[in-house]
Amino acid sequence: MKNGVKTLKATAKAHTNIALIKYWGKRDESLILPMNSSLSVTLDTFYTVTTVEFDEKLTEDVFFLNGEKADHTDTERVSNYLRAIRKFAKKHLFAVVRSENHVPTAAGFASSASGYAALAAAATKAIGLNLHPQELSQFARLGSGSACRSIYGGFVEWQKGVKEDGSDSFAVPILHEDDFPIAVLSVMVATNRKKVLSRAGMKRTVETSPFYQGWLDTVEHDLSELKHALELRDFTLLGEIAERNALKMHATTLGANPPFYYWQSATMEVMEAVQNIRSQGIEAYFTMDAGPNVKVLCLPEDEQKVYDQLKQIPSVKKIFTCHPGPGVTFLPTGEADV
Ligand code: ADP
Ligand code: DP6
Ligand code: CO
Repeated sequence: MKNGVKTLKATAKAHTNIALIKYWGKRDESLILPMNSSLSVTLDTFYTVTTVEFDEKLTEDVFFLNGEKADHTDTERVSNYLRAIRKFAKKHLFAVVRSENHVPTAAGFASSASGYAALAAAATKAIGLNLHPQELSQFARLGSGSACRSIYGGFVEWQKGVKEDGSDSFAVPILHEDDFPIAVLSVMVATNRKKVLSRAGMKRTVETSPFYQGWLDTVEHDLSELKHALELRDFTLLGEIAERNALKMHATTLGANPPFYYWQSATMEVMEAVQNIRSQGIEAYFTMDAGPNVKVLCLPEDEQKVYDQLKQIPSVKKIFTCHPGPGVTFLPTGEADV
């Protein structure tokens, strides 16, 4: 309560996720409907905490990211997103959004996933909607496709759906975070913002890359194989499919016009080191999202050995050891800043 008026304020925390089967390409850009289904694992180490407060005194939305007023592009994206929530809730109020990314922003660590999952949860709660997780996943999807998967913990599938209105395009939990212990070493080689955002990169690929059809022809098969690996808790199969699927996604960007790629030389060095580790009989596999940083999948009992070898690469800045993490949660909204 503030001066007897109910405050429309809420805080949510959401974790990032790394795709084992990538979402790459949209069939509808405004509703964010994907060309293919995808599957990810939510990570315990990286997350976003976002507070949203709707206020009738505001004349526009304000967005603070990591304590600073965000730039025009990021603010406009948040504001467009809030417009959809206002429309649904039939409350025409602007908001102050304060978000802290405990993950590098726009560097291929999936900040848009944790960012929009946290924003979806905080904004819908603040405006008075009490959504079922499936509805929340659909709202998160409207902010960033990968965000719909971060509503849930563990291994999560985003079912692409077939309907034009997007009502059957949402994430579903496949395995709880404790049900298949794996390690994901997030190998940081660069933290600068990417030149080609995921959104622009996948659009250019869909529109111009002759390799994109090859992606579409095989991705659903990769997905069903990966789900089979999860059922069997077969780590070798999981790693092989995830690595293959990642390379295939990145290959499509080379065929785009103009061509582009997210890798740096350090990316290749880490990939080669992983292959080398594997040749020593230690199971390790790599995957990369839209950025130069590499996520290395291994079994928890091997994580220290894998860490030690990757740490020796001079271009590796830092390695974060991650494990499957939880879904979105609400945090108490501090009285101090009410
Ligand atoms: P990433 O690899 O980090 O997901 P993307 O290209 O998918 O990179 O998305 C980056 C964009 O996501 C940023 O430019 C910004 O607009 C948005 N974003 C990142 N973090 C947040 C946040 N905490 N709240 C709202 N939007 C965010
Ligand atoms: C390569 O979800 O960031 O990380 O929906 O346009 O916001 P928008 O894109 P985003 O794309 C993620 C692409 C990817 C693969 C994945 O996470 O599935
Ligand atoms: Co993203």
